[in-house]
Amino acid sequence: MCGIIGYLGNKNCLNVIIDGLERLEYRGYDSAGIAYNKDGKVEIIKEKGKIANLKSKLDFKIESNLGIGHTRWATHGQPNNINSHPHKVGKITIVHNGIIENYVELKKELEELGYKFKSDTDTEVACALLDHIYSETNSMEQTMAIFKDKAKGAYALGILCDDHMHHLYAVKKDSPLIIAIGDKEKYIASDVPAILKYTNKYIILDDGEFAKLNPEKVIVYDNNIEIIKKEIHTFEGNASSMDKNGYEHYMLKEINEEAEVIKATTLPYIEDGIDSLIKNIPNLTRFNKIEIIACGSAMHAGLIGKTLIEEYANIPVNVELASEYRYKKLFLDKKSLVIVISQSGETADTLAALKIAKAHGAYTLGIINVVGSSIARYSDHVLYTKAGSEIAVATTKAYSTQVAMLGLIALNLAYHNKTMTKDEINEVISEIRKLPTNIQSVLNEQLEYRKIAKKLYKHNDIFFIGRNVDYALAMEGSLKLKEISYINSQGYAAGELKHGTISLIDKGTPVFAIVTEKAIADKTISNIKECKARGADITFIVSEDLDVKDDFYNQKIVIPTNHKTIQSVLTVIPLQLIAYEIAKLRKCDIDKPKNLAKSVTVE
Ligand code: G6P
Repeated sequence: MCGIIGYLGNKNCLNVIIDGLERLEYRGYDSAGIAYNKDGKVEIIKEKGKIANLKSKLDFKIESNLGIGHTRWATHGQPNNINSHPHKVGKITIVHNGIIENYVELKKELEELGYKFKSDTDTEVACALLDHIYSETNSMEQTMAIFKDKAKGAYALGILCDDHMHHLYAVKKDSPLIIAIGDKEKYIASDVPAILKYTNKYIILDDGEFAKLNPEKVIVYDNNIEIIKKEIHTFEGNASSMDKNGYEHYMLKEINEEAEVIKATTLPYIEDGIDSLIKNIPNLTRFNKIEIIACGSAMHAGLIGKTLIEEYANIPVNVELASEYRYKKLFLDKKSLVIVISQSGETADTLAALKIAKAHGAYTLGIINVVGSSIARYSDHVLYTKAGSEIAVATTKAYSTQVAMLGLIALNLAYHNKTMTKDEINEVISEIRKLPTNIQSVLNEQLEYRKIAKKLYKHNDIFFIGRNVDYALAMEGSLKLKEISYINSQGYAAGELKHGTISLIDKGTPVFAIVTEKAIADKTISNIKECKARGADITFIVSEDLDVKDDFYNQKIVIPTNHKTIQSVLTVIPLQLIAYEIAKLRKCDIDKPKNLAKSVTVE
């Protein structure tokens, strides 16, 4: 988390940095700060809260062509002005994304050398360490190389040095950092969107590399302080794709893009029917075990993927949270396939789990949205979702593309395992083709979802129940609601409620009950009736084919029936939109919910 940016060139760096920070604000928004060259000296301004607060403190008339900026998601110390970045110690000023894990030991050593610390942060310690090394070496290249040996953990650093106020320095390990290249101007940033307004050419800094930038050139060094040649990438999107396009919130815009991104994601694998499916997804049947690893909504997508792979291809699948997986006993070898799912491609837990899986000899497949991200680069093979830029912290369209991609993988496995015939697979493919139209028809019901939101938004506890795929959807619906509306919510297996949780159901308690699977519809309906008997206010979310007229629900949402692979892509939409409408009625900051960040690059 945290977003960093740096600029040097012929523009006013304050404008460039603030603009970039606004584009990076999805990474954290507890506080923000900027350090810039003011007549040869470093001037630092920081402010608690969102970028707008910092912006109001800046004098944009000041002419400065070199600076670094930071938007923070607090890890060490409260989000106040002292803990905010940039930090300056001696001659060194830095912005940092990541965590220096051995900062306590380093701090002790530096205190013994006479350094005094004002903040609670690991970043100030990293800054002092750089200053100390620089005071001994008098060379920034040496300083960064030695720093890498001493600092443990994850870091992407933007660095200014008082003695070299015509250079910008950067060093990276396990936190993302790009260097962007303009005409006689250079940038560093946590992510491409921050600089897209100015250039689409960039270099990805790899772990252990560090760089020295001046307006004319970028010099990248490897571990041995040898200069290395780096590939220059060109980003294919543009800055306007990151605007709200008239929508009140990014989240609403992104939900409304679901039809188009599902089409973009699935088309390469279905355009020539089964042939494209076989050609564009590798045959993965040589493995005797499949594990899916991810965090948050990506893990929920994985749960749906598990059901699809098991049912279509007859292969057992384990789904694990990356944060748990990295510390448990693993049973992996060369015959294991590990599928990692991540929108950002930078989630620290998922990245660590991927590295562990590789170290155990497993073959790794990434389902990733951000091209060239760390997880994409570490994976043995990548299938990219085509969700485009997702800015709202709560994922919507990226989640849907992950589910669709897992469905395609399941079909591919089923083909190679001969558990489905070609005709059966082609039938599903023709259903997938109809998906964008069906998504649009579900989106068109927004006013109905708003009515339900108006009825329920004042409640403080809301339940989501379902079985099997519908249970995975219940977990996702519940997560959406709690992350943006701050309502306490649980996604529960419908059949498990009676083992304790049903004690929380009272007169009027809202329960969203999802029923889209024929084989278990009756079972879930029995569980819904148990809730209704205790006074729950039931919103029945049902696929058209299973729709029943009855008195066990208070309101109903009917979703067009589709093949199982894609039904969940439709069913999740009302859940996303109801969460959105409830959060709006509760006047929450929908795109930037409190305490969260979109790209979670800490453990
Ligand atoms: C954060 C986001 C979630 C997301 C999770 C995994 O917690 O708020 O929406 O599902 O990270 O992110 P990833 O980028 O790995 O999909």
